[in-house]
Amino acid sequence: MTELLEVKDLSVSFKGEAGNFSPLIDINFSLNKGQAVAIVGESGSGKSLSTSAIMHLLPTVANIDKGKIRFDGEDITHAPEPTMKSLRGRRMAMVFQNAHKSLNPIISVGKQIADVYRQHFGGSKKVAWARAVEALKATGIPDPYNRSRLYPYEYSGGMAQRAMIAMALACKPNLLIADEPTSGLDVTIQIQVLDLIKRVTQETGAALLMITHDINIIKGMCERIVVMYSGMVMEIGTLEEIMKKPANPYTAALLACSISNLDGFKFIPGRAPDPRNRSLGCPFVPRCERAKEMCHVSRPRLKMVMNRMVACHFPVTNEKTC
Ligand SMILES: Nc1ncnc2c1ncn2[C@@H]1O[C@H](COP(=O)(O)OP(=O)(O)OP(=O)(O)O)[C@@H](O)[C@H]1O
Ligand SMILES: [Mg+2]
Repeated sequence: MTELLEVKDLSVSFKGEAGNFSPLIDINFSLNKGQAVAIVGESGSGKSLSTSAIMHLLPTVANIDKGKIRFDGEDITHAPEPTMKSLRGRRMAMVFQNAHKSLNPIISVGKQIADVYRQHFGGSKKVAWARAVEALKATGIPDPYNRSRLYPYEYSGGMAQRAMIAMALACKPNLLIADEPTSGLDVTIQIQVLDLIKRVTQETGAALLMITHDINIIKGMCERIVVMYSGMVMEIGTLEEIMKKPANPYTAALLACSISNLDGFKFIPGRAPDPRNRSLGCPFVPRCERAKEMCHVSRPRLKMVMNRMVACHFPVTNEKTC
């Protein structure tokens, strides 16, 4: 399989009035063409910032200190804005959490999709509008021709999410990044939107980078997962192997919570460290039952353990964990 995206040793820091700190440290992961990968982790772990770095949408106070981002064979780490403008929306597209906030409220949905299409492919307004209607139809929006003329406020939450997916896929991108695309939706609508993302990415051959804090929603959808914690990658491997036997104690704790959350809500005891006050060692130390002295003073780097990459000095290997 050919590699589409590679993030290698990427570190990002913020410099501003709130102080200097590094929300992302040595981020590593990759994605092949057509592959579906999920980034999973608690709130504040750096999932969204990682995707912002890929899209060159980091806040202005952020700086890439080191590392590389390669997309379809090209190093885009410091690509100029015109290059990124031609990539964003065309070859890499994004779907966010709240469609009503992301869509422009004073432009009809059809025109917004048609505008994105014309920005990248040019051509007549008529052709672009036809493409917009086709994209809305592909996402299962009933009566897409008439609905394309409506404004976002005339769409329900689930319908607006479908419209945003239609916009993201109108230019047939190679990569779709979906950042918590179903948060805030009813459970039944969530399932429909996830099914839709799975179906349309498979149909168009787009690779999918799915961002979520809930490991349950990516089952049957993503082959690989990247587990993040406090700005670090803790474990990368196939969803199946990691679910069967998590090697990083953080992954194990996250999984234990998500399994119990099917019955009732549970959290990992303790709190994730604020990246502004991270210690020298592993950020999971204060919550880790396996932590030893070394974990307090030395930050673990990703290494191969049981056929996957794990950042832990004392990974769980042969013991039964879940
Ligand atoms: N613009 C910003 N200025 C300062 N700090 C920021 C900014 N954006 C993010 N951060 C910090 O960077 C860290 C990572 O944030 P990020 O938004 O990537 O987390 P996340 O994993 O996407 O969380 P969530 O699940 O809540 O969306 C957090 O500690 C956050 O407070
Ligand atoms: Mg986020």
